[in-house]
Amino acid sequence: MAISGSKNAALAIIGAAMALDGPCIIYNLPQVRDVNLFLEVCADIGATVEKVAPHKVRIDPTTISSPEAISPKVSMLRGSYYLLGALQSRFGSCKVTMPGGCNLGVRPIDLHIKGFKALGSDVDIIYRNINGEEIWFRYDGGVALPGQGEPDSFTLDPAFIHCKNPTGKMKPASIFLDTVSVGATVNIMIAAVKADGITIIDNAAREPHIVDVANFLNTMGADIRGAGTETIRIKGKPYLPANKEYMIIPDQIEAGTYMMMAPLTGGDITVTNIIPTHMEPLSAKLQEMGVGIEEGEESIRVYTKPGQILQATSIKTMPYPGFPTDLQPQVTTLLSQAEGTSRVIETVWESRFGYVSELNKMGANIVISGRLAVITGGTELTGSRVRALDLRGGMAVTMAGLVARGETVVENTSVVERGYEEAIRKIRSLGGAIDRFEELTGRSR
Ligand code: UD1
Repeated sequence: MAISGSKNAALAIIGAAMALDGPCIIYNLPQVRDVNLFLEVCADIGATVEKVAPHKVRIDPTTISSPEAISPKVSMLRGSYYLLGALQSRFGSCKVTMPGGCNLGVRPIDLHIKGFKALGSDVDIIYRNINGEEIWFRYDGGVALPGQGEPDSFTLDPAFIHCKNPTGKMKPASIFLDTVSVGATVNIMIAAVKADGITIIDNAAREPHIVDVANFLNTMGADIRGAGTETIRIKGKPYLPANKEYMIIPDQIEAGTYMMMAPLTGGDITVTNIIPTHMEPLSAKLQEMGVGIEEGEESIRVYTKPGQILQATSIKTMPYPGFPTDLQPQVTTLLSQAEGTSRVIETVWESRFGYVSELNKMGANIVISGRLAVITGGTELTGSRVRALDLRGGMAVTMAGLVARGETVVENTSVVERGYEEAIRKIRSLGGAIDRFEELTGRSR
């Protein structure tokens, strides 16, 4: 099973490409909704985007004339926040609609804003009142101060973010992130890439796609060191000539999802086109559960040992190199089939157990208490009608359907397609009995 390019790396790299001063070619682009939508957003703001092959895109950002990305499409994506960093980096200012993404509880962007402010920008959040008039609040030391309008306007949905550096360009800074944040680390890195001097980001996130974005920008002419450690040093370069090609890393979350399908179904699956070291947090847990793992250079075989019964375990999600939160729902499905009681603690997102009620409908025995899930394993799952509530949670219930007795119908699977390339085809190629039905229009393949 060949793994596609990383969705989250692709979003960050496409965003970073908007800061360049020349065209670039990106390979191993995953064909998923979020990425395609983000490319559309970039084209809408004036970048020249050519899909030269299904997994290859040529992007020329030099055709962007105005740093404004205001549209409902922007609010359908989390990764669109990278436009804030990239457009400020190139133009010294930007207006970008508030980002969206899966509902995992509160998803603040205060650390991004803290970084932009340290780099010299004023940041205003623009709201609209019921008459459609704009009301702005200036972000000041993490507290939003009213510029004009009513105090109760805080209850309104923000319309867009306006960042403006009075000098017209970003100034270098030393920035300590209070919380380890993937998005803030990447966004500040992109925003600082052309600042006149050296920017340091401390307590940076270390996820593989942070290294990937730094490698991408360096290939295009930037000078970024330390990505993958907790201190990143960015020496600003006034001009990023680009005119180069870059290959996105494999998707660690997609790989982990298919790896877990082997023990879930008592099968034997080899995932290829991956970087095995990125999979260590999961491989170690699977081994603890009694699953067979064989690492190749760019592949991992995951197999069920003869007579092996899957063992319960405890898992705590953490920033990389800890266990990824984006594999938490899928591992919970797997643990519902393990012998004994497992515990899963979610430390990254405040509300990421929504899918559990759907698993319980299928016969799982999972009790949630705040950020803790206690899973009594070994219960038989029964086919049911369930709902994909978000990207990874949707995949978790789909996986449960593979081992449930009888037929499972998963509604709202479009959220799964936001991040998994050709999930139906891939699961079928592994032997899963899965098909796609379009509601109302009947069956389609
Ligand atoms: C990215 C991924 C998402 C993944 C997450 C954690 C993308 C598009 N999305 O999301 O799939 O689940 O990393 O691996 O790449 N936080 C703040 N203030 C901020 C930013 C974040 O308090 O300004 C907090 C968040 O509430 C959360 C934690 O930091 O508790 C981690 O969030 P972050 O790493 O920023 O996640 P995203 O980059 O949004």
